[in-house]
Amino acid sequence: MEVLECISGKRSVRAYTDEVISKETITKLIELGTKASTGSGLEPWGFVVIQDKEEIDSLSEATKQYLLNNMEKYPYLSQYESWLKNPKYNIFNNAGTVLVIYGNKESHWHVYDCSLAAGNIMLAAHSMGIGTCWIGFAEALLNTKEFKEKHGVPEKYELVSTMSMGYMKTKMTPPERKKPLIFSK
Ligand SMILES: Cc1cc2nc3c(=O)[nH]c(=O)nc-3n(C[C@H](O)[C@H](O)[C@H](O)COP(=O)(O)O)c2cc1C
Repeated sequence: MEVLECISGKRSVRAYTDEVISKETITKLIELGTKASTGSGLEPWGFVVIQDKEEIDSLSEATKQYLLNNMEKYPYLSQYESWLKNPKYNIFNNAGTVLVIYGNKESHWHVYDCSLAAGNIMLAAHSMGIGTCWIGFAEALLNTKEFKEKHGVPEKYELVSTMSMGYMKTKMTPPERKKPLIFSK
């Protein structure tokens, strides 16, 4: 896929086929993620890949319960209360793969670098017919000491991006955006 077409057509995808994304493909996407620019050349990223459907589904349930019980800490999520209360709602959109990107806090630039890596991965995935969706809800539990310990993430790394991933079920229309606000004359 041509790069401008890829950027113009990429959407957040929330419906996936049952086809499993192979380990090779995930590794390739992560490697493409690490081609992103990186402040001071520090490459402060680290990745966790979850493909255990039971774990993904139970993380979704636990996150929903946690957020609903602690909504006062997350005022920016209050608009999604009805989604979180819906028993059928899965925060990872029933994806078979969840990719989490952690940044090493020792680099001042870790949030920028890991966000750029996430963008690369999303675009590269789109070009392969793999849909992705950044899942902000997941921050609540996937950045905890318990979760990080379970997945071998050192304490000095913090969560920057979580994305659900899977082969796209349907073709989507390109995104629509407001006219960009350009301050300079
Ligand atoms: C930082 C961030 C957090 C997001 N969190 C969620 C989320 O928790 N759940 C979800 O379904 N979509 C989430 N999204 C996707 C946005 O809803 C989506 O990008 C926006 O509606 C525009 O749609 P588009 O990406 O298809 O153009 C998130 C996107 C970003 C960049």
